[in-house]
Amino acid sequence: MLKVGFIGWRGMVGSVLMERMREENDFQGFEPVFFTTSQAGQDGPDVGFGTKPLEDAMDIGRLSEMDIILSCQGGSYTTAVYEKLRENWDGYWIDAASTLRMKDDSIIVLDPVNRSVIDDGLKRGIKNYIGGNCTVSLMMMALGGLIENDLVEWISSMTYQAASGAGAKNMRELITQMGEIEKDVDDLLADPSSAILDIDRKITAKLNDSSLTTDNWGVPLAASLIPWIDVPVANGQSREEWKGVAETNKILGNKEPDLIPVDGLCVRVGAMRCHSQAFTIKLKKDIEVAEIEKILDSHNQWVKVIPNDREITTRELTPVKVSGTLTVPVGRIHKMNIGPEYLTAFTVGDQLLWGAAEPVRRMLNILLN
Ligand code: HSE
Repeated sequence: MLKVGFIGWRGMVGSVLMERMREENDFQGFEPVFFTTSQAGQDGPDVGFGTKPLEDAMDIGRLSEMDIILSCQGGSYTTAVYEKLRENWDGYWIDAASTLRMKDDSIIVLDPVNRSVIDDGLKRGIKNYIGGNCTVSLMMMALGGLIENDLVEWISSMTYQAASGAGAKNMRELITQMGEIEKDVDDLLADPSSAILDIDRKITAKLNDSSLTTDNWGVPLAASLIPWIDVPVANGQSREEWKGVAETNKILGNKEPDLIPVDGLCVRVGAMRCHSQAFTIKLKKDIEVAEIEKILDSHNQWVKVIPNDREITTRELTPVKVSGTLTVPVGRIHKMNIGPEYLTAFTVGDQLLWGAAEPVRRMLNILLN
């Protein structure tokens, strides 16, 4: 029986992965081995066969007994063990972290979009299968139909990214900030005759007086936004923005001169776990909106076209609606006044599901089946 080692299964992405694996009855037909970086010897999780002691995630010898390793432990762990492990190990490495994503001997996995690239990689003996950047994966789940039909000349994606993309502590801090702001004006809020500009002045003062908890964000996110995600790279882009073009094309297996240009600004907003994106898409030709909607909607079983109607959109195309689900709605679809080949659309997706855990869960199943 194949041995599958799990590392980082207790963190945020790892916990979502475990939930999904339990929901889908994935824990069968292989031997799961649970590793830990800090609690070796303690009881591991019971996934249907009782518990076993957790094993040491830094024990290269034990890791190398695995046929497949699935890590949600994060990039520093990958950096710490991967090269050393590979010296004497030929198993499959599935990873949610970005460390190995752009390596030539890695495939970025998003099988509803690039199953043929994955299958080709397996045939070529590629052993590293890495989950993509959440924003990129969610964009491709939404726009897969247009891309597959070679209808896209370029994409501009302006993002509205949730707190979860920065980690669990950041999610907590966002809520803390919300509470601190509310507390500051709760007496004024309770008084219906208080002036809104007084409330606003107090809030603005609170946001600026450095008393808000900002240990993780560095600045207020609640009642504000942060128009920068990750470190700067070249040409004024952030690394999150650069991933748009780099990972989209790697997922598709596109090489020069067939790269699809993708660019835009990535912005952090006070949503919990759903990333949203507003697209401007230059189509290769003028196609009817009804036809575009059909192409988008039929690409995979999770994407869902939302009619460009105010009531339906405000109910269905929001982080509130999508959070905790695998549905990837795409709406606000219409031609722009700029010209008939310019399309706009808006999508929302759960950053922890299709943005992180689901592609690696499905890759494990591809290897096992
Ligand atoms: N980099 C993403 C974000 C999350 O900060 O939202 C990881 O893909």
